[in-house]
Amino acid sequence: MADHAFVTLATNDSYGKGALVLGSSLRKYTSKKLAVLIAPQVSDSMRKVLSKVYDDVRVVDVLDSKDSAHLALLERPELGVTLTKLHCWTLTEYTKCVFMDADTMVLQNIDDLFEREELSAAPDPGWPDCFNSGVFVFRPSIETYKQLLHKASEEGSFDGGDQGLLNSFFNTWSTKDIHKHLPFMYNLSSISIYTYLPAFKAFGANAKVVHFLGKAKPWNYTYDSKTQTVKGNVHDQTLIHPEFLSLWWNTYTSRILPLLTEHGVVKDASTGLKALSGLVCSLAFSCRFCRDEEEITEAVSQLSIAAAASPPPPSISSEERRERWEQGQVDYMGADSYDNIKKKLDTYLQ
Ligand code: UDP
Ligand code: GLC
Ligand code: MN
Repeated sequence: MADHAFVTLATNDSYGKGALVLGSSLRKYTSKKLAVLIAPQVSDSMRKVLSKVYDDVRVVDVLDSKDSAHLALLERPELGVTLTKLHCWTLTEYTKCVFMDADTMVLQNIDDLFEREELSAAPDPGWPDCFNSGVFVFRPSIETYKQLLHKASEEGSFDGGDQGLLNSFFNTWSTKDIHKHLPFMYNLSSISIYTYLPAFKAFGANAKVVHFLGKAKPWNYTYDSKTQTVKGNVHDQTLIHPEFLSLWWNTYTSRILPLLTEHGVVKDASTGLKALSGLVCSLAFSCRFCRDEEEITEAVSQLSIAAAASPPPPSISSEERRERWEQGQVDYMGADSYDNIKKKLDTYLQ
């Protein structure tokens, strides 16, 4: 239906990359409208690329809680701006929407979410009596928007971001109506895979949406061709079980990078590039391997060009392939392509 939309948010170009992968994954499985809310600081070139993937690119004011005390408890000082999400209630030309964080990715059709009512969401893995606000069904309404802003200014948010506020506002979510509890499969937090691996093995095949919740975002990694190793933070569990991360990167390199390069968001890789090609962590807060955004951009750009230019790799044994995979040498365009990874994941889970 034309008055249904999937909605996301990107206040800067980094989250813009996430929004592009999310949008591209949605396009693969749905014909619903796609809308992205962006902040004024998102670059013009990123806006152009977003408009290739999204039907509706809307500039909104940034709403920031500036609540450093609660954000410190959450250990995410940067998340005050997630209150900007509240603008999604102003999209009144749609009757019903599904909000999705820019760090989520769709693995199957999820149009059935539009049969649910406001506010439907999945439990938060850290506190299951709260819903996670990375995926939720809502009805745009200026009245609700005003009430939310009012609550935010009167009481603040218990986590300094949108999730605390929304849980206080829709405070009967955990008790009143089970239909508003989305199955975890609609917001599978990548963190949970490691905290309850047997459940992941039993039910993970049904995953519909993966959420890269936490500090380490997929776009914080790239490849270091010099050492050909995963040079991320060794404590980062995402790297222990990297299939979903690989799916994200596969979509990024095959469908998004060409657009970013064409529109100059990513610099042309043909000149003055460093020899990069393994997974490199760029966690802004904790990782000593941090690199700046520009280097990552260049690295990624080079990766795509190298991948496009190289001849098909010779066939190798599955053991050798696994070894290469573990060393961060992933053949995104060939054996480790999106479809192959997804097939492997499905077989493993079944
Ligand atoms: N977001 C944004 N800019 C920021 C931080 C967050 O646009 O600087 C948006 C983006 O859509 C993101 C969502 O707010 O996915 C929630 O933040 P995040 O996903 O980082 O939180 P987490 O799910 O890791 O707790
Ligand atoms: C959560 C949610 C995210 C939200 C953040 C701040 O962890 O995943 O969507 O923005 O908390 O409230
Ligand atoms: Mn998120």
